[in-house]
Amino acid sequence: MRLLITLLICATSALYAADKVVGGPYVVNPAARSATIGWVVETDGVKTGGAPDQLTRRIPVLRNEKISMTGLKAGETVYYEIPGAGPLEERTGRFKVPPTGPASFQFVVFGDTRTRDDLHRRIVQAISKTDPDFVIHTGDLVADGYDTAQWPVFFAIERDLLRKTVFFPVLGNHERNNARFHEFFAIQTPYYSFNWGSAHFVLLNSDLNNVSVSPAERERFWAEQMRWMEDDLQKNQKADFRMVVMHHPALTAYQEPSHMSKDTPGLVPLFEKYKVTAVFAGHDHNYQHHLKNGIHYIVTGGGGAPLAPVDQPIPGITVKVESVEHYTPIQINGNRAHIQAIALDGHLIETIDLISPTAMAPASRQ
Ligand SMILES: [Fe+2]
Repeated sequence: MRLLITLLICATSALYAADKVVGGPYVVNPAARSATIGWVVETDGVKTGGAPDQLTRRIPVLRNEKISMTGLKAGETVYYEIPGAGPLEERTGRFKVPPTGPASFQFVVFGDTRTRDDLHRRIVQAISKTDPDFVIHTGDLVADGYDTAQWPVFFAIERDLLRKTVFFPVLGNHERNNARFHEFFAIQTPYYSFNWGSAHFVLLNSDLNNVSVSPAERERFWAEQMRWMEDDLQKNQKADFRMVVMHHPALTAYQEPSHMSKDTPGLVPLFEKYKVTAVFAGHDHNYQHHLKNGIHYIVTGGGGAPLAPVDQPIPGITVKVESVEHYTPIQINGNRAHIQAIALDGHLIETIDLISPTAMAPASRQ
């Protein structure tokens, strides 16, 4: 199939064939006819230490490259190869362009992949076997977004997954609002949304503490984000499913003092007003499922970070909790959704089956 593909070189610096690819390739920002391929190269290293003759730590110098592709066809599969040194099989990839209208597709939600690299690697290997059309990361990709050395580790673990899917991350508190998060994943706005088939996804920035040191500025940011979310959800009331993703949960069974964000519970009335189907979060390193006023609140923060307890379920609201490394695959078939939570050892934590309200509405209302 011939594609009309326009490649726009967005990188600010020239490409060097000898550059070592230490991140990606990965695909972000897909729309009905466009997508961005990104990768990270290590151009050099800075050595540091406690004395001139003891420069034992090497901090990589990273450069991000991107191309934007247009002229794509909804639902098609695109194959690609990026330049650079390294094995060809690590520089090639494929992705699906989001389909439009009712469609069947599968994706995985997971998060909190920081700190325990071995467990992160095993979770990614398990997700990769499901061959998802896209993955959503609920934040805390790395332990410290400012540490240049941590990003190549993250990307090395995720390589074989990211080069055959599409990646949608939300900002976690451990990214510390570092510019690299926004740069690597071409996130030009602090919050964003996208459509895949007839499902609508809203990805928020719940990490208010790192938005600004100014309380007034944080308040302004939050109010603006809520206005944007209301407008976005209002415009997408005909979608079969409305899914919201943010790092900090709105409801939790992990009640460590000062752990919870004071801001996210205030979003619940808006989720109810705009008939959100499910809200996915991370931050708590466990699996949680709460059901309140018809909305499913799922915490899926079991991607490798040290596990957290789930010792305070909410009476009448908490459906299922388990402190375990896991991931959450979701299959959408038109107006039906099948959500699974699968533990790292393979056991099924629970399944959730949903039918879109549009499937049950009288014809005159559709
Ligand atoms: Fe977090």
